[in-house]
Amino acid sequence: MSLTPVPPLAPVAALALDDARELSPAAATITVIGPDALTLAVAASYPGATVRAFDDLTPLDHPAVGFTRFPLHPALFDGSDLVVGLLPKSIAELTDIASLAAGGVTADAIVTLAGRDKHMSRGMNTALESWFHDVSASRGRQKSRALRARGPQPGAPLPYPRHASVDVPFAIYARGGAFAGATLDIGTRALLDAFPAIFASHRGSIEHIVDLGCGTGVLATSAALRLPQARVTATDRSWAAVASTRLTVDHAGVGSRVTVTQDDAGATIADGTVDMVLFNPPFHDGAAVDEDMSHRMFRSAARMLRPGGSLAVVYNSHLRHRTALERIVGPTDQMSRTPKFTVTLSRRR
Ligand SMILES: C[S@@+](CC[C@H](N)C(=O)[O-])C[C@H]1O[C@@H](n2cnc3c(N)ncnc32)[C@H](O)[C@@H]1O
Repeated sequence: MSLTPVPPLAPVAALALDDARELSPAAATITVIGPDALTLAVAASYPGATVRAFDDLTPLDHPAVGFTRFPLHPALFDGSDLVVGLLPKSIAELTDIASLAAGGVTADAIVTLAGRDKHMSRGMNTALESWFHDVSASRGRQKSRALRARGPQPGAPLPYPRHASVDVPFAIYARGGAFAGATLDIGTRALLDAFPAIFASHRGSIEHIVDLGCGTGVLATSAALRLPQARVTATDRSWAAVASTRLTVDHAGVGSRVTVTQDDAGATIADGTVDMVLFNPPFHDGAAVDEDMSHRMFRSAARMLRPGGSLAVVYNSHLRHRTALERIVGPTDQMSRTPKFTVTLSRRR
């Protein structure tokens, strides 16, 4: 009897597990790429197997029973004869995973990663084909299917982390899953361009700055270089983001002043302790989703700011964030505006 309750699986995760059981019923060392619900179901289906798991959105110190959490590192795949999980969102993230898997799994290992048909592309097959000899797709079920890979072909240099210095005076380091990769996003560029106006408009000293949803840490690094006396906290819910940010700040020589945390909306930052928050909100397919997520993050920013502290936000000019910022944070001024991007500064009331 399993002591750990196994939560119900989403159809795509159930497909990944069923595909693994069909192709590799006797696996002994298993790597899971995906959420705990899938990892627990895998552990329950393979009693006695060693199970290691990576999930981009679950911090490594989160409790794990019956399996071990790993970062996206070669040790995650070392000696695995089965890799089962969910396809990541981007081809870059899949490439990061596949390159490490190819170097670690056994020669006869099965890899099966499932996704929703609408999120899958031919480029995902190509990414796997760069690292595995034999790649095919399962039959579809409930608008989902699995990509299967066999015959690892390690040897090429690992593609991630990669780095580049374009338009900023430091190298941007990126793991495959990090927002914008090793490039400068144009929204981030708009916020950097507004830095002179933002810092001139801020009232009071700046001892502690937060880069909320830090991605590769471009805003955190730029702020730390601009304000050599300030402490910076860079925070993101994604492991790939915090891993990238650590590399970016360390290589820029500001690592001793930048604390990097994996957190949901900066939840572990104490109330009223921050002088300025820099925020380039996450975006999705629908404006309504964008607004919900952004407003939640605005509330978090307001919570962590001291009264009189500033929140600088860049957003697509068609979004009506300014009214929400006035309501949630306080008086809000426009720092810059183009047809594409608006940058505002809100003062916490
Ligand atoms: C548009 S990107 C901006 C990244 C970076 N600040 C920049 O300007 O290049 C938004 C970031 O927010 C992060 N994010 C999304 N939801 C989050 C949440 N609930 N808590 C923390 N970070 C989140 C994403 O992982 C992503 O890295």
